[in-house]
Amino acid sequence: SYLQETKKGLEGIVALDTSISFIDGMQGILKYRGIDIEHLAEMSYETISYLLINGILPGEQELAAYSNRLKSERRINGEMIDIMRVCNYGTEALDSLRTAISCTAHMDHENDNNSLDANKNKAVRLIAKLPTMIAALYRCKSGDFPFQPDETLSHGANFLYMLRGEAPSAIEAEAIEKDFILSAEHELNPSTFALRIAASTLADVYSAIITGLCTLKGPLHGGARRGVMEMLDEVAVPENANNYVLYKLSRKEKIMGFGHRVYRTYDPRSRIFKDMAKRVAKENGDPTWYEVAESLEHVMYREFLDVRGRPIYPNVDFYSAVIYKYLRIPPELATSVFAIGRVSGWTAHCFEQYADNRVIRPRAHYI
Ligand code: CMC
Repeated sequence: SYLQETKKGLEGIVALDTSISFIDGMQGILKYRGIDIEHLAEMSYETISYLLINGILPGEQELAAYSNRLKSERRINGEMIDIMRVCNYGTEALDSLRTAISCTAHMDHENDNNSLDANKNKAVRLIAKLPTMIAALYRCKSGDFPFQPDETLSHGANFLYMLRGEAPSAIEAEAIEKDFILSAEHELNPSTFALRIAASTLADVYSAIITGLCTLKGPLHGGARRGVMEMLDEVAVPENANNYVLYKLSRKEKIMGFGHRVYRTYDPRSRIFKDMAKRVAKENGDPTWYEVAESLEHVMYREFLDVRGRPIYPNVDFYSAVIYKYLRIPPELATSVFAIGRVSGWTAHCFEQYADNRVIRPRAHYI
């Protein structure tokens, strides 16, 4: 047969060329548009989202103009809030966010315009509106009125403000900003690949984003963040980590927030998240969640090294979830908060697909 051997999960298959991000899974290197993640983590999410969708870092004037555009697009209208009241979530905010993004498409006067300019406008709208929509969903669920965006705050701080009705502390603002930056892009992860397939059929930006969003939901991908938050509560104290891991592994269950298809060493984002989580825990005064996480990391490392001869490391969802605990982000919002960051990477991939398109259509081996 001319068909090649099946690669389960498409492991190791190179599906396309990209200039958006670069991963070296052996050495633990991640770059967006050629810039190391450690360097990017010190910038603002606005800068990073501009970099991802436009391909270059903004100058001072470009950044100011872009920032103003985001400000002008952050608000959501009364109809959207009505929709949120009707389509409020049961256990998972992502279900309602999916509906809200669909409705944003209906309300976008450029919905049918597939030019690059119009598509970039849609990207700005999505980047600006996602935090407002998620905070509003949460507020509506609690029977409260949503807060309007505060134009004086950064992308991250404004989100926490809209969620809680009070501005976050400096360290909390830094933590959520870093979360959005580190979550913004990661090559052909499942949601981005799914989205590129949708884009390769020349489906519009909103349809492609919703494809990505649906794929993010699963516990083996973006849903792991919520899983980690729940695990931290379940384990409760560091002394329980050992028995928890041994019990789960004996039942062949996955421990959320560990392992990665591409990294064979420490994920560089996890390092930054771990450091940030430690600082947030210290500021909070109760380090328990952080200590539980560290114990889980030690036990997992030991178990995998001893039993399988190869260690396992925390992935991007692990210490970010510890940070979410300290930021008082409700677990049912965790996957949606991940999407706030990821939406800029998703739209960048959409544009890259449109720019040099061939429909993505692999083969299957018939048995
Ligand atoms: N807990 C327990 N065992 C694990 C874990 C884990 N978290 N991760 C991998 N393993 C085991 C796995 O069971 C397998 O063992 P065996 O060879 O005996 O069947 C071996 O390690 C190799 O793992 P795999 O499942 O073949 O790896 P994969 O590349 O197919 O999957 C993964 C990668 C991330 C889906 C997987 O590690 C996993 O399910 N992790 C837990 C969920 C999670 O944290 N997902 C977030 C992924 S990273 C960021 C994101 O996408 O959001």
